[in-house]
Amino acid sequence: MAEHLEIAQGGKEEKYEVLYRQVVDLMEDEPDTIANMANVSAMIQDTFHFWWTGFYRVLDGVLVLGPFQGPLACTRIKCGKGVCGTAWKEKKTQLVPDVEQFPGHIACSSASKSEIVVPLMKDGEVTGVLDIDSEFLSTFDETDQKWLEKIAALF
Ligand code: SME
Repeated sequence: MAEHLEIAQGGKEEKYEVLYRQVVDLMEDEPDTIANMANVSAMIQDTFHFWWTGFYRVLDGVLVLGPFQGPLACTRIKCGKGVCGTAWKEKKTQLVPDVEQFPGHIACSSASKSEIVVPLMKDGEVTGVLDIDSEFLSTFDETDQKWLEKIAALF
């Protein structure tokens, strides 16, 4: 794997293209899921400097905090609870422009204003989620969704 992260200049699309290629390279060389989650959250943060980027894994029927970059976060989330638990229950990406408008949103930090949560799927079941928070409203759009779903599909 490359020892440093190459960060594309230009717009979001270009940045995701470069990021995605590097995530593919990283994961080809490393089979351990936790190691990959740790580096993927670091690579997303280095590229975009979001407020919080990380993973939760489904363990014994609950989402448990996994590798992340950013401030302290809540550790366990039940199915159907908050944005993460909704992504799990619905097996569908949740794109939330304003977290205060999302019923049941779990506020790990009052600084978080918008959020995207992408489920990680295996054999039709959710095995975890990739969760990204922004301190700005409406940070995430279909471009983020497309690329983050491609990254999630690698897990
Ligand atoms: N806001 C999330 C909880 C996880 S933190 O944002 C890291 C939710 O509502 O599921």
